[in-house]
Amino acid sequence: MIRMPDVITKKKNGKKLTNEEIDFVVHGYVAGEIPDYQMSAFMMAVCFCGMNKAEVSHLTKAMAASGDQVDLRSIPGFKADKHSTGGVGDKTTLIVAPLVASLGVKVAKMSGRGLGHTGGTIDKLESIPGFSTALTTDRFMEQVRQIGIAIAGQTGNLVPADKKMYALRDVTSTVDSIPLIASSIMSKKLAAGSNGIVLDVKCGSGAFMKDKKDAKELARVMVDIGKAAGRKVSALVTDMDVPLGYAVGNSLEVLEAIETLSGRGPADLRKLCLELAAHMLALAGKGSVDACRKLATTALDDGTALTTFGKLIAAQGGDPSAVSDTKKLIVAKYSHELISDVSGYVSRMDTEQVGIAASLLGAGRMTKEDVIDLGAGLVLRKKTGDRVEKGETLAVLYASEEGERMAAALEGLRKAYHFSEKAPKKRDLIIDSVQ
Ligand code: URA
Repeated sequence: MIRMPDVITKKKNGKKLTNEEIDFVVHGYVAGEIPDYQMSAFMMAVCFCGMNKAEVSHLTKAMAASGDQVDLRSIPGFKADKHSTGGVGDKTTLIVAPLVASLGVKVAKMSGRGLGHTGGTIDKLESIPGFSTALTTDRFMEQVRQIGIAIAGQTGNLVPADKKMYALRDVTSTVDSIPLIASSIMSKKLAAGSNGIVLDVKCGSGAFMKDKKDAKELARVMVDIGKAAGRKVSALVTDMDVPLGYAVGNSLEVLEAIETLSGRGPADLRKLCLELAAHMLALAGKGSVDACRKLATTALDDGTALTTFGKLIAAQGGDPSAVSDTKKLIVAKYSHELISDVSGYVSRMDTEQVGIAASLLGAGRMTKEDVIDLGAGLVLRKKTGDRVEKGETLAVLYASEEGERMAAALEGLRKAYHFSEKAPKKRDLIIDSVQ
């Protein structure tokens, strides 16, 4: 008979767990038979001793099977998904999903809400007037069949094991473990049912993984888990030492996404979107990554991807004219400019602080219960590498109220900027890729 104290001891001593022991832990915890204190001890042992490839793959499969699993087999064609490990200003899903769908690859996407200093796709989409992300399974599937794309909030019972484990990890200092992060992310991706998954593993001051080596290792582990489960998977390791694009905050990010879908938009955001789309299309068999990058570039520049975004908005109850008449997107009433009190180059940005400043303005949640202000946030005018003169605007901040929070956000954002006399060395946006 398997006993939880023995499983904890085995992992604490660095031994490999059997599939039966892993199933026992996951099933027992979801069923309420294993208490939080034993699960915390187990996860702490995983933090210290790790898991090998077979263990982490089995843990992920057991977690994915702990609740509902989306079965997309009745939808013809290749279904592709993407996942970002979370960053500041990361609105890539809003661009990449319609871009890929416009080229004939199905996108049946479940997304999350933002928590902490990073935003969530569902909140961003809800800043489009009328847009609903609460779709029934039937409607979700039918929409993918009809127009090739749907983006919905995660259903209540998708990977309950992860919900329980993540809540416990958050309060027991067991978040930063590669096997636990990889199984958490990949269990949700496997349960969401797509054939192909492209992972964007962020690295830098605004990301979970501060270091390139750890980010690459996380990417490798997640790709291996996906392949072991019979999916096509690839990953990019990308820089999150600087916010992506200029806008941070829900409707402000939708505005920037529409700019990018119109063939304009910030160069870094456009480049990453094209790379993610190229990898998704390549997994779907549309050609080499190079050939797919060309396809994606054309669809972004000739308006095809923007048209698909309009169809997505209309299908989910939103006002599709918002893509051409962006005044329909609500932007918060008050704005303040952050003025530079020095001249020089922006040498570095503390990206996490940029995200926290946007949260303070009302764009993010500090707790799951917080109601966010969809029109709040900030638009950077200067980023790392830019020359700034004293008196120039560094950023514009938007909020629905003036007062303490605006003052705190201005103060926090000022501290996020670091300056030097010489221009800093250019950083690569796309650091690595893992197949
Ligand atoms: N995102 C997740 O979904 N899980 C983690 O553990 C970390 C990031």
